Amino acid sequence: MVRARIIATGSYTPAEIVTNDDLSKKIDTTDEWIVSRTGIRARRVARPDEQTSDMATEAVKRALEMAEMKPSDIDMIIVGTISGDMPMPSCATFVQKKLGARCPAFDVSAACAGSIYGLTIADKFVRTGAAKRVVVVGVELLSRLLDWDDRNTCVLFGDAAGAMIVGESEDDAHGILTTHLDADGTFTDILTIPGGGSLHPTSHETVEARLHKVKMNGREVYKVAVRSLAETVEKSLAAVNMTAADINHIVPHQANIRIVDTVLERLGVPREKAILNIDKYGNTSSASVPVTLDEGVRSGRIKKDDIVAMMAIGAGMSWGSTIMRW
Ligand code: ACO
Repeated sequence: MVRARIIATGSYTPAEIVTNDDLSKKIDTTDEWIVSRTGIRARRVARPDEQTSDMATEAVKRALEMAEMKPSDIDMIIVGTISGDMPMPSCATFVQKKLGARCPAFDVSAACAGSIYGLTIADKFVRTGAAKRVVVVGVELLSRLLDWDDRNTCVLFGDAAGAMIVGESEDDAHGILTTHLDADGTFTDILTIPGGGSLHPTSHETVEARLHKVKMNGREVYKVAVRSLAETVEKSLAAVNMTAADINHIVPHQANIRIVDTVLERLGVPREKAILNIDKYGNTSSASVPVTLDEGVRSGRIKKDDIVAMMAIGAGMSWGSTIMRW
């Protein structure tokens, strides 16, 4: 089997910046509280006329440009999202239409871990030769699913899109060395959008109760996140006979700087090795890993032969990691 590699990356963040001070004018919060608890200073919010698939399409176009590929070269589009344009059809089919591509296209629902889940699927398709060029997108437009009166959640998230194009590696040494996925459905109740599905079909009552908005038990999420992220990276490292000392760069899901710092400490990876942008964008859920990877690649920080670890966790809880030699 050939090895798969990320051959190009792209990202898109909306122009509108909402700072912590902007939020403190509308809800009972402060810049000091948000920065000290989360590391977030600002987040981006999409324009009213901008849809999830528009952001995703822009990120893919930037990745296609880097790869010098045309939309007709794409064999498959996988979109990790829980905030697509509509519950049906998939966000991936909107992206396909907007790109002018023609290939299988589907969404993956793993919340903030959506891009790692998507990357893992792409890796398998490319390795088996079933596809040559797979586009993986992580995109979220959570600003429309947040309860802007709930200070426990609305300060945390932002809108963004990141894309990765997975293709064949020229050799066995470079590319995706391993991926690890896991989920624990005993935690389905700690981070949810409870309304709009079979359990609470949309009605006047569900809307009045704001069941169509994000609900979170922050303390529980924190505990599961720290434990699971450290564990998944350790499992990925063990699978390729590496240790944390081998990692040159870690691209963490930018959930919360305290979660990232605690995981780094448990792994024994110094913070200088982590690529961070949570201060600028907040938690962009499934977009966070590909956006951060794109910034690491385009800034020249990630170089050929570097060992790059990526990790993410989201609602479910669902999580995963990957180790790559760039
Ligand atoms: N501004 C000011 N005060 C606030 C705010 C706010 N935005 N939000 C909550 N508070 C208050 C609470 O109401 C509480 O007040 P009380 O003591 O009078 O009841 C107080 O601050 C302390 O609340 P805690 O929940 O104890 O605060 P904590 O230190 O645990 O921090 C946080 C909360 C930041 C949500 C933390 O639990 C956390 O980081 N959890 C992880 C959640 C996360 O990262 N989610 C991202 C999505 S999931 C993912 O991506 C993995």
